[in-house]
Amino acid sequence: MPSGTTMQVLVVDDEPEICALYCRWLEQEGHTCRAAHSATAALAELGSTPCDLMLLDINMPEVTGIEILQEVKEGYPDLAVVIVTAMQDREIAFGAMRLGADGYLNKPAGKMELTLLAANAMMRRQVEREHRRRQEELSGLVSERNAKLAAAYEELQRSHHQILQQEKMAAIGQLAAGVAHEINNPTGFIASNLGTLGKYIERLAACIREQGELLAAHAPAETVSQHLASRQRLKIDYILKDAADLIDESKEGTERIKKIVQGLKNFSRKDQEVCQLSNINDCIESTLNIVWNELKYKTTVSKELGTLPLTACFPQQLNQVFMNVLVNAAHAITANGEIHIRTRDENGVIAITIADNGCGIPPENLARIFEPFFTTKEVGKGTGLGMSISAEIVKRHHGEISVASEVGRGTTFTITLPVSERLEPREGGGIGATTD
Ligand SMILES: Nc1ncnc2c1ncn2[C@@H]1O[C@H](COP(=O)(O)OP(=O)(O)O)[C@@H](O)[C@H]1O
Ligand SMILES: [Mg+2]
Repeated sequence: MPSGTTMQVLVVDDEPEICALYCRWLEQEGHTCRAAHSATAALAELGSTPCDLMLLDINMPEVTGIEILQEVKEGYPDLAVVIVTAMQDREIAFGAMRLGADGYLNKPAGKMELTLLAANAMMRRQVEREHRRRQEELSGLVSERNAKLAAAYEELQRSHHQILQQEKMAAIGQLAAGVAHEINNPTGFIASNLGTLGKYIERLAACIREQGELLAAHAPAETVSQHLASRQRLKIDYILKDAADLIDESKEGTERIKKIVQGLKNFSRKDQEVCQLSNINDCIESTLNIVWNELKYKTTVSKELGTLPLTACFPQQLNQVFMNVLVNAAHAITANGEIHIRTRDENGVIAITIADNGCGIPPENLARIFEPFFTTKEVGKGTGLGMSISAEIVKRHHGEISVASEVGRGTTFTITLPVSERLEPREGGGIGATTD
């Protein structure tokens, strides 16, 4: 017992004189003592007042000390218990120690023996208590570290997936740029040849017309009617008219190819991280060209594009945002859908809304759609990354993205981007480039 430490002691013995003696001795050492003359009284005392040490006589009438020892140890794990008995029985002593007694004292005991044993038992208790506390602290620390490790691992997996996705987008972008370039040349000569072919057909048509007129004026009637019959059989008049139409349609087709190619080029420009002054309406148009195939069979797209000032941005990244939102809208629509795109300049802030009348998002999912990997789509169709990447890109542009949705009615995404001449890096955002 460290000197100066006082204890609350409960002395349990059916002999009142012994109780009084032990109490006196211990009080002389500065401890506070109470006495109980039976096992049941001891339990009641323990329940009413806190206690550090219990001197417990084994041999008591009715209930013995051994009988309550286990209950006491379980109920009061911090209580030191010293068994006291007149019986010189080693087996009882060992039994008591096995049940958790902290010491064993033979009656009659001297003052020195008693106080030393009491102090010893108390010290043992304290060491055990400290040990338990440290263990708890340690296991708390271990589980805290485990939780941190698990969170770090999850974060690592997320960024790994995100990087993979971005790599994939970059690869698709490069591929698209290559394909666009390859398509550009043949489309160019097809367009130019169609122009020439159109002129040739016009001349052929004029020649046939003139020949018919000459024949009608100068040839014998039989030759004229033969000529007319052959013209009719070969459907020459129809062919001449239709050829011009076919050429016009083909020209229109090449114009469309050119637009798609231009969209692909805009979309996948190699100047990936170059910030430039761009018109957001152009970004929307070129993205629409790219996703047209996803939309055209089941939706009509209406546009209300306001006059916008140029703003510093990473256009290909914004294209990716618009593409993610538009593809999600297409996924939300089964048939006869409508997508309305509106852009406005609201006093220095460009507001873009993309509204669909698709299936909508239930309230419990609404807060989660910007979480990485949150998807309600089957494996292979959704990665759950589109919205989280989009939110990140909009954040990099100092803008905001929000969503309103109603199940069965549709979803509206609103993106706001402050108009700026140069894009400063966001704090902790890592945009890395400005329009210098
Ligand atoms: N326009 C929308 N209509 C209905 N649900 C949508 C819409 N946009 C996003 N969502 C919901 O948000 C989820 C997350 O979208 P996203 O991050 O793009 O991942 P993914 O499309 O790969 O599932 C989707 O799975 C879908 O449940
Ligand atoms: Mg998506």
